[in-house]
Amino acid sequence: MFSNREVTLSAIAKDPRKTPSDALVVGVAVGPDGPVLLESPLSPRSAEAIASTLRSLGVTGAADQLHRLPGLPELGTDVIALAGVGKIDDGAAPSAEQLRRAAGSAVRQLAGSDTVVLALPAPTAEELGAVAEGAALGAYAYTEHKTATQDGPKSNVRRAVVYSPAAGTTAADDALARAAVVGSAVNVTRTLVNMPPSQLYPETFAEAARELAKGLPVKVTVWDEKRLAKEGFGGILAVGQGSARPPRLVKVEYAPAKSARRVHFVGKGITFDTGGISIKPSAQMDQMKSDMAGAATVLTALLAAARLGLGVSVTAWLCMAENMPSGTAQRPADVITVRGGKTVEVLNTDAEGRLVMADGLSAASDEEPDVLVDVATLTGAALIALGTRTAGVMGDDAVTRPLLDAAAAAGEPAWPMPLPEELRAGLDSPTADIANIGDRPGGMLTAAIFLHEFVGARADGSAVPWAHVDIAGPAFNTGSAYGHTPKQGTGATVRTLVAYLEALAGEADA
Ligand code: BES
Ligand code: MN
Ligand code: ZN
Repeated sequence: MFSNREVTLSAIAKDPRKTPSDALVVGVAVGPDGPVLLESPLSPRSAEAIASTLRSLGVTGAADQLHRLPGLPELGTDVIALAGVGKIDDGAAPSAEQLRRAAGSAVRQLAGSDTVVLALPAPTAEELGAVAEGAALGAYAYTEHKTATQDGPKSNVRRAVVYSPAAGTTAADDALARAAVVGSAVNVTRTLVNMPPSQLYPETFAEAARELAKGLPVKVTVWDEKRLAKEGFGGILAVGQGSARPPRLVKVEYAPAKSARRVHFVGKGITFDTGGISIKPSAQMDQMKSDMAGAATVLTALLAAARLGLGVSVTAWLCMAENMPSGTAQRPADVITVRGGKTVEVLNTDAEGRLVMADGLSAASDEEPDVLVDVATLTGAALIALGTRTAGVMGDDAVTRPLLDAAAAAGEPAWPMPLPEELRAGLDSPTADIANIGDRPGGMLTAAIFLHEFVGARADGSAVPWAHVDIAGPAFNTGSAYGHTPKQGTGATVRTLVAYLEALAGEADA
């Protein structure tokens, strides 16, 4: 099922000639006075020769620029690839994020090559980790359904070797191992999103979760439609009832012996969103294969936590259904009872994400976690508000603040959004406890306010600390590839969640 070939990451401290490669990547930055060739294993003479011709070569150092030159006799490489890292201050070194993106962009553009040596300036384990992570993210191609043709799809780079004086140290080994785990988590998310909905539907998505968890200290429980009915998961059932492919709820648990905190994740897993009876226009409906990105994200982030052996216990609830119009589909005006007993008037069957999430949030709340974070491609309004690359983060400050910090550390754009009280009135229903749509302005916020209604309280009466991340924009790239981000499934927010869990585990250690 997951046939994208994983890149092998390694690091060397000296003499890249011992590693014959297809390409040696060297950095170029945009300096205050033009392009600057960054530190590399090139001999001073060669470096000088290249540096003095950058302008005539048309090399500016801008991000995503990649210029190929023939390899030099002094190096064991076929090609020298000059990779842009973007703007730096006079004499300054590129940031970890610039290195991550430059490495990712170069490795992505070098698809079709076998071995790439990355000689970007990486003096310490931190930069080495950033370059390795970028390389892992750039080494992705979804070629599953491309038949072999002469100039057919280029497969991803197989081996990425990071050149760094820090190579060989324990810190460097840890950074490499982490980059491999994180890169693979993101790439698996991308593949789950990219898979056609004829192949990835609730039943097969649940199987994939089981398969991916194999060999890890992780427990997977699957609710089929019968058990969902018996236990009152009315939201997941209502959304799934129009499809010939029945819905599923998957609970994934990682509970290490040493754990100070209990985190629960809930992910939206709509394997295809037609809108249901409130059907979407056909133009771009294909993009709705990405409507399960939230579930894929929380799944792979949890599995990464298990692989890294983080000292924090994590439970992920994946709410899976296919939203289809049919004779058995729910109708606008139907009233459903979601888990926990609240009734919802379904005024628009295309606002289905919040219905399945209501069930998941209620089930998670019952276990009284220390924090509850949900991730969903919830609203088109998120794209209007924040564009295509930035996630919207809403909820309790105690959860949103560390999440936003984690996003910044991971280099993933995310922004805080409010939950204005007055929008709640728009969700009033004359018939049921709440309606599933409100007024049009602030659609992302209204959706979050709806979700908040299903976040429960603990036995002592305190609310479960909660945050909601709307990834409708960043989860799926409908434009061109850039940096380490490919077209289509991006795996956005996986790295934020991993960084968030690492921070929680670190706090517990301190
Ligand atoms: N899955 C969509 C949201 C979406 C739109 C994600 C575009 C990614 C790109 C969601 O189920 C949806 O259809 N939301 C509706 C809600 C509306 C009916 C209140 C929307 O945003 O239009
Ligand atoms: Mn929808
Ligand atoms: Zn949806």
